[in-house]
Amino acid sequence: MSNLILVGAQWGDEGKGKIVDILTRSADLIVRFQGGNNAGHTLVVGDEKFVFHLIPSGILHSGKISVIGNGVVVDPAVLIEEIQSLKKRGYFLDDSALIVSSDAHVIMPYHKALDIAREKARGSKKIGTTKRGIGPAYEDKASRRGIRVEDLLDDEVFKEKLLHNLTETNSYLKNVYNADELEYDGIYEQYAGYAKVIAKYVASSQTFLSEQIDKKKNILFEGAQGALLDIDHGTFPYVTSSNTVSGGACTGAGVSPRSIDYVLGIVKAYTTRVGGGPFVTELSDDIGERLQKEGAEYGATTGRARRCGWLDAVQLKFTTRVNGIDGIALTKLDVLTGIKKIKICTGYKHNGKILDGFTTSPKILGGCEPVYEELDGFDEDISEIKEFDKLPENAKIYIRRIQELLGTRVVMISVGCKRSQTIMVENPFDFISSKK
Ligand code: GDP
Ligand code: IMO
Ligand code: MG
Repeated sequence: MSNLILVGAQWGDEGKGKIVDILTRSADLIVRFQGGNNAGHTLVVGDEKFVFHLIPSGILHSGKISVIGNGVVVDPAVLIEEIQSLKKRGYFLDDSALIVSSDAHVIMPYHKALDIAREKARGSKKIGTTKRGIGPAYEDKASRRGIRVEDLLDDEVFKEKLLHNLTETNSYLKNVYNADELEYDGIYEQYAGYAKVIAKYVASSQTFLSEQIDKKKNILFEGAQGALLDIDHGTFPYVTSSNTVSGGACTGAGVSPRSIDYVLGIVKAYTTRVGGGPFVTELSDDIGERLQKEGAEYGATTGRARRCGWLDAVQLKFTTRVNGIDGIALTKLDVLTGIKKIKICTGYKHNGKILDGFTTSPKILGGCEPVYEELDGFDEDISEIKEFDKLPENAKIYIRRIQELLGTRVVMISVGCKRSQTIMVENPFDFISSKK
């Protein structure tokens, strides 16, 4: 039995999907535990590209079980679309390969309407959400009025909850935001239809997972977003509405912390962010443009251009600690090829003083200047390199410096979007087995 949590260590889009796809070979189950279809995880298999928003990125491998845990917020329309698109492409032919938690909360059309109305009302202070209704769906969960998947499958309960929630939300939409109200009948018909399609996948994921743990199966927990978008530990309020850090896997899947063996942090070789909020190492010069172009930094969910900047060791030290990261998968190293001098931020200067460490305060972060360490870059094409030793010397120096600064080992290096473009220094699942 080896159970591993994979999390983004920055602001999302670190390349989690690709790494999950690779590690799925060593896992029996792949579990999403938080977030919803705000996520966009990209996988490239041969000449085919897949982007998953809800279904775990391990779904392309037959014989593995994908689980959408209780901590996820599920938009059934998106789930059904993903299922159908996979089947059309010749994948996910066995329906028993997907389990959707009966305790997961459902994203309703009024959640999306509220998300859009709120963002509009915030004006220049908008968060830059994905407008998928994520925040309002989690609000309903916290306020104990949310509709769970099990409610959706029970016509009587669903009708009652929908009527209650819609009446309340319509009043809010109309009176607070001057937005259009939504109609009960259309939503009811639509969601009753979704319930029929998804019913066969629904089960208690906690019970199922604890049985699998008893059977000593290997579980890979697939985080969405990144640690700095965590509702508690991120750059609040410019965050998402779930716990994206490793601790969220236990609550979002219903497994004990005792069953976790390893936390793998996914770190992009530079930094990106989509949406608003402070970004100390952001670059608005030609290097920033170059990273965006060479890294194809456009959102997999909304298509928005991602803001780009240098790697930030101050934030990564913080997220390494909050997540308890045992090993790092460093992605998109190939994108740095050809840059003469590569910078790593090693300190924040605020009002002339160097801060002790990271802070989640947007006000302080907004006034911080990065303190950089400069390293020589590399020119060689590294996209087909399979072994660490074959990397250019300056690329090795960059990786070793990251290890030194974060006090954690880089165990995987990604040098391109394809499965084959990966240097496996040490497979984390093999590492866990070797320690048992
Ligand atoms: P996720 O949300 O963390 O799964 O990441 P995204 O899929 O949103 O964004 C990562 C993007 O980088 C995708 O387009 C991947 O295909 C691509 N990608 C992943 N790893 C690498 C890599 O090592 N090099 C390059 N050039 N692209 C990569
Ligand atoms: P993956 O899993 C990057 C960002 C949004 C916005 C903030 C809140 O692909 O890494 P939300 O819709 O969640 O209320 O938006 O969070 N955001 C992401 N940024 N990658 C993601 O997911 C994200 N999911 C949400 O851009 O700033
Ligand atoms: Mg993404």
